[in-house]
Amino acid sequence: MRYFPIFVDVDGRDVLIVGGGEKALQKLRLLAKTSARIRVVAEEVCADIAALSREPAVVLQRRCFQPSDVAGAAIVFAVGDDPETDAQVAAAAKAHGVPVNVVDAPRESTFIMPAIVDRDPVVVAVGTEGAAPILAREIRSRIEAWLPARFGRIAERAMVLRRLVQEAITDPVARRRVWEGLLQGAWRSAVLAGDDVAADKELERQLEAGRSGARAAGSVALIGCGPGEPDLLTLKAQQRLQEADVLVVDRLVNSAILDYARRDAVRIDAGKEPDGPSVSQDEINRILVRESLKGHRVARLKGGDAFIFGRAAEEIAAVRAAGVPVEVVPGVTAAHACAASVGLPLTLRQKVRQFAVVTGASADGAFDLDWGALAKPGQAFAVYMGVRSAAQFRNKLLAAGAEPETPVVVVENGSLADERAVATQLAALDRAIAEMRIKGPAIIFVGLDWASAGLSAPAKVEVYAPERMAESGRDESAAEAAPPQGQERAEGARLRRRGNETMARRRS
Ligand SMILES: C[S@@+](CC[C@H](N)C(=O)[O-])C[C@H]1O[C@@H](n2cnc3c(N)ncnc32)[C@H](O)[C@@H]1O
Repeated sequence: MRYFPIFVDVDGRDVLIVGGGEKALQKLRLLAKTSARIRVVAEEVCADIAALSREPAVVLQRRCFQPSDVAGAAIVFAVGDDPETDAQVAAAAKAHGVPVNVVDAPRESTFIMPAIVDRDPVVVAVGTEGAAPILAREIRSRIEAWLPARFGRIAERAMVLRRLVQEAITDPVARRRVWEGLLQGAWRSAVLAGDDVAADKELERQLEAGRSGARAAGSVALIGCGPGEPDLLTLKAQQRLQEADVLVVDRLVNSAILDYARRDAVRIDAGKEPDGPSVSQDEINRILVRESLKGHRVARLKGGDAFIFGRAAEEIAAVRAAGVPVEVVPGVTAAHACAASVGLPLTLRQKVRQFAVVTGASADGAFDLDWGALAKPGQAFAVYMGVRSAAQFRNKLLAAGAEPETPVVVVENGSLADERAVATQLAALDRAIAEMRIKGPAIIFVGLDWASAGLSAPAKVEVYAPERMAESGRDESAAEAAPPQGQERAEGARLRRRGNETMARRRS
């Protein structure tokens, strides 16, 4: 961030505009909404500037710019029609230490102007550091559409009520709840509708609730934060993040998602590293109970969806046992996000009628999956936490009769900037993972491919060709397994073709 956004107090202060054309008029119109004293210096001015100069806050000086004009100004705009005058204005302002904006010349300026949404006293300023003003304008129009024209009224009324609420509700947590109740509920609607009677009635009701509640009741929201990409957060998840007083954060939650939370929310790391330092599940349960019993709204941030390998049940049980209400906000699970990212359908009409999610890890290290069922032709499933156990997984499936050529797709860091995807066959799964240096987090899709769906794999999917197994010694369990048939054989040939192409590309 090169430009630091601030709001400058210009109340009763001098703002200088040097120039008299169309762009100077735009600045004058904008500044006329403030309580600044505006001086316009220009030899010639357009008719609209002449008309506006009749306003009491505007002084028009029809003459050449002089460097001493900048003295005492809060800010200066150089909007002359000739670059020479603009350069003189910029030099004089810099010499006097006065912030200057040379219109359309950010390099000559010491500040730049954002796109502004004005719902006085609510003002939204949008900047792109000069990189793409059109983008800033687009964002501004979206915000304009989203903020009702009377939005400023809410802030005006809130300003008047601040002291009253402060004195009526002394507990800070209860006070925040009262404000949330006012600003998100019936009081807000009444103010926007201009219905003062209803607004006052609702205000009284909220204050009464705040007074009698003494300590606000806490709660826990288990929020599925998706696989990492913030755009995959649900609207409800964003809302709960905004409301939370305390955030209890999992290891796989992208830090960009924390930007949706309040800055003053307390953050507690509850990461469980596969091998590294961890916060135990019991300790996490204790934190959730302790913080919610203090009256806090606790957001428990989990990767993907809380109900898919998220140990949500244990946390819900602990929180409920303490008598605290708990809510589950669904998230996009890693398998869905990874499949979407590489365009791999998870079910296919007539062909793939069921899809399962299984874990490649287990509490005691024992693999107690139904291997016979998973190995049957036509089975499709996603393996979570399966990178480290890929070799055991493959061996178990082959031993249970799975085809060595069963298609496999591995997606690492799905939806994130460093996402990688590899297509191979079951017999080559662990070698593909080792050679492609896939460390995870990753989803391993088994029994799914693009060809069966009448699609082709996107170019970003690398192919690990089974031929490489011959180079490094063919695996015994694969050699013993049944020969490929029909579709699998065709897919094997396709993989080999693409694999050879990839290898050739790599070699060149
Ligand atoms: C403890 S599980 C949590 C799953 C999570 N609750 C969900 O619904 O996605 C962690 C596993 O999820 C998968 N995973 C999580 N984020 C991922 C991502 N961005 N890309 C691929 N796999 C991911 C990996 O298999 C990882 O080992």
